[in-house]
Amino acid sequence: MFIKELELTNFRNYEKLHLTFDEAVNVIIGENAQGKTNLLEAIYLLAFTKSHRTANDRELIKWEEDFAKIRAVLHKKNQNVPLELIFHKNGKKAKLNHIEQKKLSEFIGALNVVMFAPEDLSLVKGAPQIRRRFIDMELGQIEPLYLFHLSEYQKIVKQRNTYLKQLQKERNPDTTLLDILTEQLIGHASVILQRRFNFLKKLRKWAVPIHNKISRQLEELSISYVPTIEVLEEAAEETIIKTFRERFEQIKENEIERGTTLIGPHRDDLQFFINGKDVKQYGSQGQQRTTTLSLKLAEIDLIYEQIGEYPILLLDDVLSELDDFRQSHLLSAIQGKVQTFVTTTSVDGIDHETLKRATMYNVVSGTVNRMTN
Ligand SMILES: Nc1ncnc2c1ncn2[C@@H]1O[C@H](COP(=O)(O)OP(=O)(O)O)[C@@H](O)[C@H]1O
Ligand SMILES: [Mg+2]
Repeated sequence: MFIKELELTNFRNYEKLHLTFDEAVNVIIGENAQGKTNLLEAIYLLAFTKSHRTANDRELIKWEEDFAKIRAVLHKKNQNVPLELIFHKNGKKAKLNHIEQKKLSEFIGALNVVMFAPEDLSLVKGAPQIRRRFIDMELGQIEPLYLFHLSEYQKIVKQRNTYLKQLQKERNPDTTLLDILTEQLIGHASVILQRRFNFLKKLRKWAVPIHNKISRQLEELSISYVPTIEVLEEAAEETIIKTFRERFEQIKENEIERGTTLIGPHRDDLQFFINGKDVKQYGSQGQQRTTTLSLKLAEIDLIYEQIGEYPILLLDDVLSELDDFRQSHLLSAIQGKVQTFVTTTSVDGIDHETLKRATMYNVVSGTVNRMTN
């Protein structure tokens, strides 16, 4: 798939922007704070309806304006698919093929995107929520129904926590309502866990050989999913449900005492190992980078396998973060098959065949010009 046309209205520092793209690599060059990341953010939003860098949609609307609009024409399976997102001060609307989608989960998945930004380098070392978010976003775009279970789950965790805090204060707590919430929670938790296990299996299949190649056969990557219950990755959903029920029964008093939900996918984590050693603890910065890059490249193949089309790759300021060998591995992996948007302050030091054939754009305070090359 590729984006043929992109139009921004009152989006961040873009008052009005209309660009057409071809399938190739697009390099966006500009000084700091000119609008490079904003442009990638707009494309990212069309895939997920949520920004990768803010939870507050109002920030997306150009200052002093009432709304922001992102419109694109996506070329997918030999068809043109118009996409539109409109942000108002009190909500957003998503249109697919000009038709408003009542549920955002019905819009998500039309466009598939893999983003690689500097903050992704904390994927390995950072807090567990960064790794959970990684799984949720990637899984969500190939299986939008997953996002439904996730958001229901998150709502119930909140409700359940509020209720647990209430029970905490009571001398003889009546747990009837708690038990109902627990049962609802387990329903979604089991689907989420089972889907995550499944996703991990597919991710490994691609990421392990890619990592091996980028490390010049020196490193063997392995990835573990760390759940809060004892259950095998191959377990059937029924087994997961049963295990959750038993565990929740065991920890009931403890949860009331603590006033919070102690187990479930909102507390799970991923662990990466290189040659058997935990990368978070022992990995060098280079190994962490290779791990992240392998995961991102794996996603590209995984999406192709699931959807039958390559996603769009967004590389925000990361080429300069990678050494020559990783850079050229990345660029040759995408060559000729993945529409790619690369941002950079300068192309100096990026020397690769792919870039020589790229279309260059220059961005200065919200105005983009195609450079002749
Ligand atoms: N809602 C907004 N309205 C107007 N300008 C904005 C808004 N949000 C961010 N900006 C401006 O966008 C610029 C940052 O753009 P960004 O794409 O992050 O820069 P970079 O080119 O460094 O990636 C800054 O000048 C910032 O003031
Ligand atoms: Mg930026």
